[in-house]
Amino acid sequence: MKPAENISLAPYTSFGVESRARFFAAFRNTDELAALLDWGVQYPLVILGGGSNLLFTRDVDGLVLKNEIKGISELHEDNDYVYIRAGAGENWHQFVLYCISRNWSGLENLSLIPGNVGASPMQNIGAYGVELEDLFWDLEAWHIRDQKTVTFTKSDCGFGYRESVFKNKYKGQFVLLNVTYRLRKKPRFNISYGAIEQELEKMGVKELSIKAVSEAVIRIRSSKLPDPRVTGNAGSFFKNPSVSAEKHAYLKKHFPDMVAYPNADGTFKLAAGWLIEQSGPGPGISWKGFRRGDAGCHDRQALVLVNYGKASGSEIFQLSEEIMQSVYQKFEVLLEREVNII
Ligand code: EPU
Repeated sequence: MKPAENISLAPYTSFGVESRARFFAAFRNTDELAALLDWGVQYPLVILGGGSNLLFTRDVDGLVLKNEIKGISELHEDNDYVYIRAGAGENWHQFVLYCISRNWSGLENLSLIPGNVGASPMQNIGAYGVELEDLFWDLEAWHIRDQKTVTFTKSDCGFGYRESVFKNKYKGQFVLLNVTYRLRKKPRFNISYGAIEQELEKMGVKELSIKAVSEAVIRIRSSKLPDPRVTGNAGSFFKNPSVSAEKHAYLKKHFPDMVAYPNADGTFKLAAGWLIEQSGPGPGISWKGFRRGDAGCHDRQALVLVNYGKASGSEIFQLSEEIMQSVYQKFEVLLEREVNII
């Protein structure tokens, strides 16, 4: 099977920026994957999932492989849980809806996150008080060099805030094949995140259900976050940075409105959206809503950078550099990108 040549990658990422792959192919199972890896062994390799956490700033003079491994199956169940396996190439939100329709609980707070199942453990996706690791059971991944399938349990994955071993220690070494989630048969609701409770109230929900929670999350996300099918983006471009208690106290003294949350280890997580909103390209101008050409900072959530149409990856990257510099100048806090840059 020979990959196609000189393919535009714009349709394959949620940012929709133009970039070309010298070779491009999709795989639906490990046989196809192994054959393609064998074919392209001498080329630099990029594996694409849903493309929702990726910014291409250049062409790829190598082989781009798109993961299209599909399938959802119930592996087994016990008194409290069902164990559901999904192919890494399944669309995340469709998978969440599938689980909700069967009344399997756990994923509802993670509704409407763009991307595919494979990205969920890769970056330990999280939203509205729930992180993937709370639902994760295990995964299978293809070891590129050894050409075999390896199983990773939760402790093997080294989950942290938007982190896993696949982004660090094992970067570029594995291709995620499928993920198994442990979901509750009897729902346990997590509506501690203030905005969910408020939204449920607005919706007039009398009796809580996982469907109602999912709908509340969808409404909140849709009101704040740009729809990647309309405006190119990759969700939060930066992580929320953590600082020491001393640094937090110092900042709070100088910026009493600063938004921060205590971490379990005594440090504080700062709302990067707030830091960015309070900084800008010049005196009295905020980054929030800023636009240069077709690259911009979203006007309802400053943590999200957007492509209004024809921005290049480099323009968006350049904007992110300037934002990081100005936040550092004002707060002496270094933002870290959440999005993978290629
Ligand atoms: N804020 C501002 N200005 C802004 C944006 C945010 O002041 O422009 C402040 C507000 O005070 C707000 C606080 O920041 O109360 C937190 O904002 P929000 O609830 O929107 O959450 P976030 O910390 O900006 C994180 C995740 C999101 C996730 C939400 C909800 C990261 C990097 N991002 O955003 O995840 O949906 O919480 O749980 O942790 C993603 O990773 O792509 C993503 C969208």
